[in-house]
Amino acid sequence: MAVPRTLEWIGGPDGFLRLIDQTLLPTRLECRDCRTVEEVWEAIRALRVRGAPAIGVAAAYGVVLAVARCPAAEGEQGVERACEYLATARPTAVNLFWALDRMRRASRENSRLPDPEAFRRMLLSEAQTIDKEDQEMCRSIGRVGAELIRDGQGVLTHCNAGGLATADFGTALAVLFTAAEQGRNFRVFADETRPLLQGARLTAWELQQRGIDVTVICDNMAAQVMKEGRVQLVVVGADRIAANGDTANKIGTYGVAILAQAHGIPFYVAAPSSTFDLGLSTGEAIPIEQRDPREVTHGFGRQTAPDGVQVYNPAFDVTPARLIAGIITEKGLIRPVTEAAIRALLD
Ligand code: MRU
Repeated sequence: MAVPRTLEWIGGPDGFLRLIDQTLLPTRLECRDCRTVEEVWEAIRALRVRGAPAIGVAAAYGVVLAVARCPAAEGEQGVERACEYLATARPTAVNLFWALDRMRRASRENSRLPDPEAFRRMLLSEAQTIDKEDQEMCRSIGRVGAELIRDGQGVLTHCNAGGLATADFGTALAVLFTAAEQGRNFRVFADETRPLLQGARLTAWELQQRGIDVTVICDNMAAQVMKEGRVQLVVVGADRIAANGDTANKIGTYGVAILAQAHGIPFYVAAPSSTFDLGLSTGEAIPIEQRDPREVTHGFGRQTAPDGVQVYNPAFDVTPARLIAGIITEKGLIRPVTEAAIRALLD
C-alpha cells in the first residue's frame, strides 16, 4: 500500500490539512483531517504530528486555517493571534517558532492585499513554500551525509528523524535512505526511545518500508551493543541547535552521545538550517518540554508504576557540542562543531 504523505494540504485556500496520525503507528496507518487551528494545535500537542520540521510545517498550515474563519477585515490580526496560540503547542523544537515567524512576516508584508481571498491565497502559498523547502532541505541533508556511511557499518539512531518527522524523507534517516539508494549495505540499530517509543514504532517502521536492515533495541542496551563492536556511527536529528552547537534532541540523546564517546564512535547530528537558534549562545537556554507523567506510568494502556509515585518526564535533553563530531545540514557538513564554523555556513 502506498504510504500517504506525513502531512499535506488538501484543496485551495478554503481547504484543510491532512496528516498521518502518528500515535496509531505502527499497527494502524490512518490519516486525520484538521479543519480548524484548534485541531492543528491538538495534533501537535498530542504528537499526532511530531518531529521538529513537521511541527513547523503543520503550524504554518494551521495559520491558514485560522484565517479562513476570521472576519474579512481582521486578516493580519488573525494571523498574529493564530501564531501566538500555535506557539503554545510545544516549547522545544525551534522550527515551530521559525515557521510561525515566516507566516507573520508574509502577513505583514502583504497586509494591503485587496481582498480576504487574495490574503488567504498568499498565506497558503507561503505555507506551501515552507513545506516544499523542507522537502528539498531533507534531500540535500541526505546527499551531504550519505558519504559518512560505509559498507558493512552498524549505525545507531535515537527517536525518529525520518520522513514522519519532516515534510518528507527526514534528516538523520535521509542520510541512511540516501546511502541505501547509493547501494551501500549497512545495519541500523533503532533505540526504542522511552517513553513514547518513536524509535520502535516509527523509525523501525520507516526503515522496514524501505527495506533497510533494522534492529530495535531498548534504550538501556546501547552501551552493550557498542561494546560488542556492532556500531561504527551514530546519527540523530535535532529539535534546536544553539550558536555554539549544543543540540537539544529527544530525551536519551545525551546519554547516547556519552556512550559513543566512551567507545570511540563518531556521533553526528543531522538538521536543516531551520533548526538552528543562533540567538541562543549555548544550549543552557533551550526550553525543555515537560510532559504528562502518565506517559511514564501508564504508557500504551497499561499501568507500570504504583499509584501516586513521583515522576519526572523531560521530553528532551541537550548534548554539548564537544560530543558532536559534525552537524549535517542542507548547506554542508559542519565539522568540527564550533560557533565560527556554524556561523560561516549559515549566516
Ligand atoms: O517528541 P518528538 O517525537 O517530537 O521528538 C522528536 C525528536 O526528538 C526528533 O529526533 C527531532 O525532532 C528530529 S526530527 C527530524
